[in-house]
Amino acid sequence: MSKSRRRESADSESKELPIYRHRSKLVDAVRENSFLLVTGETGSGKTTQLPQYLHHAGFCKNGAIAITQPRRVAAITVAQRVAQEMHCTLGKEVGYQVRFDDYTSQDTVVKYMTDGCLLREVLADSSLSQYSIVVLDEVHERSLNTDILLGLLKKKILSNPEKGRSFPLKVVVMSATLESDKLSAFLGNCPVFSIPGRTYPVDCTFGFAVGPKDVDSTGYVKEVVKMAFDVHTSERAGDILVFLTGQLEIERACDLLFEKAETIDYRYDVQDQTVDGLLILPLYGSMPTDQQKQIFQSPPPGIRKCVVATNIAATSLTINGIKYIIDSGFVKQLNHNSRVGMDILEVVPISKSEAQQRAGRAGRTSAGKCFRIYNEAFWEKSMPEYTVPEIQRTSLTSVILTLKCLGVHDVIRFPYLDRPEERFILEALKQLYQFDAIDRRGNVTPLGQLMVEFPLQPGLTRALLNAASLGCEDLMLPVAAMLSVENIFIRPGKPEKQKEADEQHRALAAKSGSLNDFATLLSVFQSCKSSDRPSSWCKENWIHWRALKSAFSVETQLREILLRLKQKRDFPVETFHGNRSELLRRCLCTGYFTNVARRSIGKVFCTMDGNGSMVHIHPSSSLFDQEGELNWIIFHDVLVTSRVYVRTVCPIRYDWVKDLLPKLHEVNVYELSSVAREEVTEDEMKKWEAKEAAKRQADPAEDITK
Ligand code: CDP
Ligand code: MG
Repeated sequence: MSKSRRRESADSESKELPIYRHRSKLVDAVRENSFLLVTGETGSGKTTQLPQYLHHAGFCKNGAIAITQPRRVAAITVAQRVAQEMHCTLGKEVGYQVRFDDYTSQDTVVKYMTDGCLLREVLADSSLSQYSIVVLDEVHERSLNTDILLGLLKKKILSNPEKGRSFPLKVVVMSATLESDKLSAFLGNCPVFSIPGRTYPVDCTFGFAVGPKDVDSTGYVKEVVKMAFDVHTSERAGDILVFLTGQLEIERACDLLFEKAETIDYRYDVQDQTVDGLLILPLYGSMPTDQQKQIFQSPPPGIRKCVVATNIAATSLTINGIKYIIDSGFVKQLNHNSRVGMDILEVVPISKSEAQQRAGRAGRTSAGKCFRIYNEAFWEKSMPEYTVPEIQRTSLTSVILTLKCLGVHDVIRFPYLDRPEERFILEALKQLYQFDAIDRRGNVTPLGQLMVEFPLQPGLTRALLNAASLGCEDLMLPVAAMLSVENIFIRPGKPEKQKEADEQHRALAAKSGSLNDFATLLSVFQSCKSSDRPSSWCKENWIHWRALKSAFSVETQLREILLRLKQKRDFPVETFHGNRSELLRRCLCTGYFTNVARRSIGKVFCTMDGNGSMVHIHPSSSLFDQEGELNWIIFHDVLVTSRVYVRTVCPIRYDWVKDLLPKLHEVNVYELSSVAREEVTEDEMKKWEAKEAAKRQADPAEDITK
């Protein structure tokens, strides 16, 4: 289709969306209220249309419209679509901003962004003075950052919406139909505008392949492929949407499905003779943007489209033409694992409400079918009713630091839509204290003020800042960048290729000098960067070129942040005597001493954080199978299967962490939060503050290089 034809069709499509009839009433409602809740079925046009209506109504005169999305892919693809509908170049009037990728300019008035990016902007300008309206979208997803923004904006609007601004800020909260009463009540009983939508019946069937005993099995990939193949050969024309768990599983499923599809003889094997081909498209978060666009285009006549997606296609993105859903019943979710004291990406059964949402994607324009690969017992026994909000199941460390930097001292009584368990808040405070980001009273330290500027996890930021104060950021910036992008090592599906890749990766690790997975990342980064033909270098070494390209860009951006901080503030300076390999490892220790483990017996290591978990080095590590000298290690993350594996590992010496380890135990979490706890009376607070002030006088200037 030509560009102008595509544009016309987008125009007429948008007039058919359920939201179109309500546009003037919606604009009035936004004008009349400082808080408005807009609900409607997914696909009714909230995300793509409402910002355009507000733009046409002239709201942008006072400032831009920000629309937040919990997922970066959604922010990018929706911005592309809206730019097309508004006939402008992406990055001009319509743009997007996601972590490490900014596609906006001075002209941008409709700005799609991730909720994390808006939260960072609040840090820089708490009154959000450049915006006329903030639209918090996909609130039903209950992402951690959106939940925090909800609380912050509630505080702002209900107390003083004009503070620091020349005109009052307006907030529109958009969500699918779930939980609208609760949300409205939270937002001071704000009006609710619901967009009536039409949905068609979806016929759901349960399968036999997955039951309550299969919660930990990985057989679901093969099963969805089999199901997709059956639908393709036996059902009438109409596109298929498969829900899987993550990039690896999706790529594997696409490969398998492709192989199977090659065997089809369209004269005999398919029931619907108008179908004569299958177009298989993956869809996951870290996919290249140009490939994402393809998902929304109609397939050529006679071709059935099959999109194999993560949960992103459940509510954030609507793909037209879907008639069949294949539901694996699983999702990859970040959960706090108290056994290892870290957040871990785990494959878990979806909730029943999630399963209904997935099924609903088949009934947007006509009746559809949903094939679940799991049986009814799985539904009854393994699937919870609702998905637990992220704020109640992941680490709060970064968010609590952000809140503290915004002057929200009492992080326990902050207006949370759903309150996290107090022990999670205390754990976050403890971590911040261990990284020297807050002091014993729970106040942000100068180091904490620096740390909050980095869009990285606090431990990594701490290590980076330590490196910068020693003048060796060149070693740590690439490592931080490499740990912030998707996995760089290619893992081919075929066993013989896998062997070849493994050998190549082992050679790369050996090349870095010492066996240390962080140093390998550094060495890969440097070798590729200095190569004449970096993309061929990647190919030869079984490295994802796309991931490395992102790492290059991330490194530049982190370097810019660091440069800015080094110029602006009283940046700590330290000296170090020793060689560079040791330097890197010692810097890592300042951020990863919370992830220290000591060899216990044989290949088993024991963590030192009080949990005393038994862990094994993951086979992907260059230190897997290392015997002898290896007594102390630090690690970047953890994978829990039948065992607890640690990945991205570095050998260290006890001497380097000896002084840090007591921090893991000495801290009394109640002391850190005591100012925030309700039991503390005003009087007690004042007394305590006086005591602390006296202490500060006796011992001024915090040493932030500690
Ligand atoms: O936000 P809500 O779920 O209410 O709907 P939306 O995301 O605004 O989607 C409205 C329509 O735009 C749907 O028919 C989508 O398929 C379409 N759309 C698209 O074609 N391309 C995109 N990148 C995003 C949306
Ligand atoms: Mg939407």
